Amino acid sequence: MPSRIVVLISGSGTNLQAIIDACKSADFPGEVVGVISNKVDAYGLTRAQNDNIPAIALSHKEYDSREAYDIALMDQISILKPDLIVLAGFMRILTPAFVQSFSGKLLNIHPSLLPKYQGLNTHQRAIDAGDSEHGVSVHFVTEELDGGPVILQAKVPVFDEDDADDLAQRVHEQEHRIYPLVVKWFCEQRLTMQQDNAVLDKQVLPTSGYASE
Ligand code: GAR
Repeated sequence: MPSRIVVLISGSGTNLQAIIDACKSADFPGEVVGVISNKVDAYGLTRAQNDNIPAIALSHKEYDSREAYDIALMDQISILKPDLIVLAGFMRILTPAFVQSFSGKLLNIHPSLLPKYQGLNTHQRAIDAGDSEHGVSVHFVTEELDGGPVILQAKVPVFDEDDADDLAQRVHEQEHRIYPLVVKWFCEQRLTMQQDNAVLDKQVLPTSGYASE
């Protein structure tokens, strides 16, 4: 049975698309069984519909508190009986109750070389700091924002003439390569989280993830 993947988005959903496309390969042991967005007009919902994947808009604006929203979100996700929940540009801070309820089954992609630049505006912050390299991290989600164990990173160069959009585009290309790969590892049951470590093929991964250099 292919692993059941639920993807949470807030926007364009290019990472969602990369994962949907990867799932079409005969050797990919997973399928996207639902996409949920907290933004009703997120283009990623259209991407899901185009592939006949259930697309659910669950606006946070309809809820009085973060806790109430996350309970509704947990309910929606649970209906889909996921093996894996993939955050793909889901721009909300999750409550501890949410994270605990799906612990070990929650992946996120963050556009920086974690632990650098947790939070927002990562591309501009890398430029402002004069960094010569930047990148993206896929990690398990824990209660610490952008702080869970890293599974895989990809690096890109930063050029003098880059603005934040140039850098975002360069990082995005890498995102679309590494996220489907990590999702595949999880679906192949090669990847787990154990005591706040990412473990691949029974090896505890280093803090910067698999084969970082
Ligand atoms: C991606 O760049 C992802 O790394 C970022 O949002 C973008 C979503 O793009 N995520 C975060 O910043 C999470 N803190 P997409 O909608 O085209 O996949």
